[in-house]
Amino acid sequence: MTHNKTILRALAGETLETPPIWMMRQAGRYLPEYKATRARAGDFLSLCYNPELAAEVTLQPIRRYGFDAAILFADILLLPQALGADLWFVTGEGPRLSTITTADELAALKPLDAIHDTLNPIYETIKILRSELPPETTLIGFAGAPWTVATYMIAGKGTPDQGPAHALKDGNRAVFEGLINRITEGTISYLSAQIEAGAEVVKLFDSWAGSLEGADFYDFSIKPIQTIVAALKAKYPHVPIIAFPRGAGERYVDLHAATGADCIALDDGVDAAWAAEHVQIDGCVQGNLASRHMVTGGQDLVDETRRICAAFKNGPHIFNLGHGITPDANPDNVQLMIDTVRGG
Ligand code: CP3
Repeated sequence: MTHNKTILRALAGETLETPPIWMMRQAGRYLPEYKATRARAGDFLSLCYNPELAAEVTLQPIRRYGFDAAILFADILLLPQALGADLWFVTGEGPRLSTITTADELAALKPLDAIHDTLNPIYETIKILRSELPPETTLIGFAGAPWTVATYMIAGKGTPDQGPAHALKDGNRAVFEGLINRITEGTISYLSAQIEAGAEVVKLFDSWAGSLEGADFYDFSIKPIQTIVAALKAKYPHVPIIAFPRGAGERYVDLHAATGADCIALDDGVDAAWAAEHVQIDGCVQGNLASRHMVTGGQDLVDETRRICAAFKNGPHIFNLGHGITPDANPDNVQLMIDTVRGG
């Protein structure tokens, strides 16, 4: 199958002369136009649930930079909210949620078919984007992977070591596994609806996969991802899936096979030359420039971007950062990265 969308070609396993490029958190606070639209919406969650404005902020980095992919503007914590958790954001601190740590709290979550009542505006955003994006730009939908979503649902906030989630996993396996299963089912339903609305690729963010050790890494990061991938592939065999088990380190090896995903996204904790030899041999990879270069810029940015492109040049590669761009980044550095990828 041939496409004029370079992201879809790379995801199909094609080696391209110039890797397609997009950037995690490309719609975000480093862009003045994002801050202006967010102010119009009132707050972050109102922006997520306003299809016109969510589509607008999704399009802003496409207009400014001409990235090869747009990522739906939403958040991984909307699914917990749709399942019945209270969710709010504290400015300067991050998300807060009501917690799920007991069998009763787990049982009180909403039934799966009810999640779409809350999530319908997200599907509207996708429909708007499919009609407004340039024909060469791929639309990526996403969700959090079950472990990462569970870490927020159990702790009620972000935590440096995911301690509360590890404590529940080790202390009450039945409730922990029940929650993982619930999120897994909800994610299959949520991503199916995103695909039905027009998402051309979906990505699973397992931001905290790296804190799972031993068998836990496979049981609670990789296995739920594999379950979601298998369910989506059964229904939508032609929709590529990107999995991002951040912090996997040496365990990045063999994850194409273990997850069933078309592309494995790499953080900046692994060296590109190593990853080319040990991960890219099995399929498309995405990554892995350190986000700090978007703050510091200069020759280091250029050198590191060239090094990553060279390391991955003999196989399918989507250029991206190793994690999201930060609010203190300079928009000019993003342009320098793109010019370096496209111009050599
Ligand atoms: O541009 C894009 O990447 C698309 C939209 C997107 C957002 N969050 C918007 C957002 C995506 C794909 C996410 C994923 C997400 N959300 C993850 C996984 C990726 C990662 O970063 O590890 C996680 C863990 C979350 C949960 C979350 N959302 C946290 C912890 C925070 C607060 C920290 C922060 O950066 O402020 C958010 C808020 C959030 N999600 C913002 C954006 C643009 C900033 C909100 C604002 O405008 O104030």
